[in-house]
Amino acid sequence: MQTFNGKTLVYGVIGDPIGHSLSPQIHGYFADLCGINMAYVPFHVKNENIPDAIKGAHALGIKGLNVTVPHKKAVIPHLVKLDKTAEKIGAVNTLVWSDDGYIGYNTDYAGIKKTVASKGLTFKDKSVIITGAGGSAYPAAVSAADGGAKKIALVNRTKENAENLASHVKSYYNIEMEVTDTAASGFDIFIQTTTVGFGALEGQSPVPDDYSFDGTQLAFDIIFTPQETAFLRHAKKSGVPNVINGFPMLVYQAAESFGLWQENIPNEDAHVTELEKRLYIN
Ligand code: ATR
Repeated sequence: MQTFNGKTLVYGVIGDPIGHSLSPQIHGYFADLCGINMAYVPFHVKNENIPDAIKGAHALGIKGLNVTVPHKKAVIPHLVKLDKTAEKIGAVNTLVWSDDGYIGYNTDYAGIKKTVASKGLTFKDKSVIITGAGGSAYPAAVSAADGGAKKIALVNRTKENAENLASHVKSYYNIEMEVTDTAASGFDIFIQTTTVGFGALEGQSPVPDDYSFDGTQLAFDIIFTPQETAFLRHAKKSGVPNVINGFPMLVYQAAESFGLWQENIPNEDAHVTELEKRLYIN
């Protein structure tokens, strides 16, 4: 067992549920790598307890927190400040302790950009389709808009949420955005950000079986467990040349958070490979 002492720095992640989180192992790995005396703890926090949890964590001197599903927007009113990127995204996944309260950051944004880059691609002049309109869809849409995508289409179960995301992005970027009831084909990059395919919804896909991936260069599913979702299996079978799950993004966003709290992690791709070996449970 890892031993702690009076100088151990405490970090953690809040979410509901939290049991599936791989962040404690990833941050533990980074802490060992950098020789930092820290603990990283999962906290199961219900929505109604967010104000008390954040106030209590600050009072306890918890140096930083990650925020995961479904609290990435809900924590915002309880922070003292948002950094510019987090403000533009409208969702937060990393909190950094300051005297007055926590400052909110969004490292999913960098995680998404790095995932696309890991396949040798960028968003520049690409058409992008995103399923979902929750806490992961916001950084996906903003990464695409910021990276110079020529068009973004949004598809979500609750159309109003997709419309809100579209107007949010339009308030920062002059970009063509459309909200549709079903996923259209012919997009260069497809980013799947819903929870369809995960947990109780494992085996399901947000696109119908006859969806055509023709012309798609990259299919990216933010889900990392199971390793291959029905969506990714469908994309692979359809011949999409680049297919990637959410695991590398999880490591990239964690490395970015670790950089905000402690120090930058070099050679991220080597760590993705190593952590994939250590953590994948199918
Ligand atoms: P995250 O932070 O990972 O984005 P979230 O904010 O809870 O998680 O968002 C989950 C996304 O999955 C939402 O877009 C949600 O659709 P709604 O906006 O309609 O809630 C989508 N989602 C969840 N369950 C779904 C289901 N059974 N069918 C289709 N979409 C679903």
